[in-house]
Amino acid sequence: MTLDERLSNVSVVGAAGKMGSGITLLLAQEMARLSLLPQNRGKVFRLNAVDLSPEGLRGLQEYVHAQALKAAEKGAVGLRALYADREDLVENGEIIEDFVRRVESMVWPSTQLAAASGSHLVFEAIVEKVPVKVSVLKQLREIVPDDAFFFTNTSSVPIGLLDREAGLAGRIVGVHFYNPPPVQKLVEIIRAPGTRPDTAETAAEIGKRLRKTLIPAADVAGFIGNGHFIRDGLHGLQEAEALAKNEGWPKALWTVNRVSQDWLLRPMGIFQLIDYVGIDVFRFIQDVMGKFLEEPLSHPVVDAMIEHGVLGGQNPDGSQKPGFLRYEKGRITAVYDLERKDYVPLDPKGWTAEADARLGPLPEGFRGWKALAGAPDRDAALKAHFDAVAAMKTPGAELARRYVKRSREIARRLVATGVAARPEDVNGVLTSGFYHLYGPINDFCA
Ligand SMILES: NC(=O)c1ccc[n+]([C@@H]2O[C@H](COP(=O)([O-])OP(=O)(O)OC[C@H]3O[C@@H](n4cnc5c(N)ncnc54)[C@H](O)[C@@H]3O)[C@@H](O)[C@H]2O)c1
Repeated sequence: MTLDERLSNVSVVGAAGKMGSGITLLLAQEMARLSLLPQNRGKVFRLNAVDLSPEGLRGLQEYVHAQALKAAEKGAVGLRALYADREDLVENGEIIEDFVRRVESMVWPSTQLAAASGSHLVFEAIVEKVPVKVSVLKQLREIVPDDAFFFTNTSSVPIGLLDREAGLAGRIVGVHFYNPPPVQKLVEIIRAPGTRPDTAETAAEIGKRLRKTLIPAADVAGFIGNGHFIRDGLHGLQEAEALAKNEGWPKALWTVNRVSQDWLLRPMGIFQLIDYVGIDVFRFIQDVMGKFLEEPLSHPVVDAMIEHGVLGGQNPDGSQKPGFLRYEKGRITAVYDLERKDYVPLDPKGWTAEADARLGPLPEGFRGWKALAGAPDRDAALKAHFDAVAAMKTPGAELARRYVKRSREIARRLVATGVAARPEDVNGVLTSGFYHLYGPINDFCA
């Protein structure tokens, strides 16, 4: 069966979720494009968007409309080529309107798993809970055609385990999109030892079709991305815990967040990143990885945050919910105090300034992540920055050096244990999936 044939009937399960909605949009756009090709005239393409939540599915339809419209307006020139033989549609506006309607018409929302029964390709993007994933995959196996492939978006569960427990006979592969799937270029492809070659080949083919950067990862819980992120986050938590003993939690969290952003030249500090992912999601992944790898990855502070009901993640309008930090219009305005169980507003003339002063100055001529991201002299500037950090004797530089060293150790271990086939793959995940300016395995960070 060709990929185009498979794409004639696809299901996304968990379609109303953060990841599922983005995957639904990407697939619906591709299917709408396919439906316009001369060889596919008259053929039917159908995307079953399955989710337990009816409200979520209503939101999904609005999301697909808004995003498809935005993308079509941006790509109007490309769309004209697809509509070259449609003499009835002349104006860009008419073409855009037709294409958006086409994308929307691909999506058939349903709260019933049975809607997936005719699918040759199923994307699974439901909650990160092993028994739930296994149960849903088992039910799907019973209803879909025998040649159907299953693409799971799991962040951490070994694919081989899902394969065995759900009895999929190698017709499953990990297709790990990053959040949000329409924007993020990276997709990790995870083959279990039993994954059939045709299943993995189809995953690679579809990844290329969606113009993604594909990086293979071995079937070890957490794969490459979370294999690095969870341990990197744990290091940040341990550094903050040590600092909090003398400085209190607000200063400790602020300090480690600043160092991991400014000194390390990352797009956001470690606690902002954990808030973005969701503290509860972070713990889910910690738990799954900890269990499969028999490695202590949990941290009492994460448990305490969840106990206090502080979870991070996003509001339906995309704004950031409070987590370790509180935000207004994307800017940090306060830091959580685990002792008082409340936020302490930033005070640029008071405690925040004291914490910054204690770190010491940033290297001379400092330019942050944003300034360096598109800079023509980026590599030279990175080297100069880390040379300066290596020579400085301030607490900020010491914290940064420990952080860089730990990140590199984690990355090297991912290669040594075969999770990543090559250092370039770990570096690729960190640069394309986490937008770091440099990979952790490099020769310029001391
Ligand atoms: N959020 C991220 O940053 C991210 C990144 C990469 C991978 N992932 C993985 O993607 C998957 C989904 O994560 P998410 O963040 O989108 O979660 P989410 O909670 O936003 O979405 C999950 C969706 O699944 C639906 N659902 C739950 N059980 C279901 C069932 N039995 N049948 C049908 N629908 C069901 C829920 O109603 C919800 O809409 C997880 O495996 C997660 O680990 C998440």
